[in-house]
Amino acid sequence: MELFNGKGKCNLCHKSEANSDGKPPLFTDFTYDNLGIPGNPDNPWYSVDPSFNPEGKNWVDPGLADFLKKVPQYAMFADDNFGKHQVPTLRNVDKRPQKGFVKTYCHNGYFKSLEELVHFIILAMSCHQQGK
Ligand code: HEC
Repeated sequence: MELFNGKGKCNLCHKSEANSDGKPPLFTDFTYDNLGIPGNPDNPWYSVDPSFNPEGKNWVDPGLADFLKKVPQYAMFADDNFGKHQVPTLRNVDKRPQKGFVKTYCHNGYFKSLEELVHFIILAMSCHQQGK
């Protein structure tokens, strides 16, 4: 928790203090961000019939933008929200049905371990801070 709330700055998005109703934290602030998670090559969507996915392997998940562009009064916000996904809860994030069960993380399951994901986030945040 010291790293989570301190050096890691994870609590900027995954809120770790009790809610205003006094209930334990949900570890999300319910906002949306684009962390730049790579496409998952195992995603079956890339190889479905082109009548469903005409872009095939070049398809990029529009995230929040996909919803916004379909609602006339929000469509003007779609471009600014391209690729954003809601900050998920981290409650029971490592819970699995049995030992050895491989979990996948983030909206497309790109990461297969928490270790991979945390390395990615730390790298992404340090590049961001250095303006790269
Ligand atoms: C800028 C806001 C932000 C910060 C800071 C942040 N996260 Fe996240 N986190 C997100 C978002 C948004 C997602 C979902 C990304 C996606 O699916 O594309 C996510 C996903 C995750 C997931 C995957 C959960 C699941 O069930 O798939 C874990 C675990 C996680 N973050 C842990 C961390 C840790 C640990 C830190 C600090 C080192 C951190 N996050 C910092 C916004 C943030």
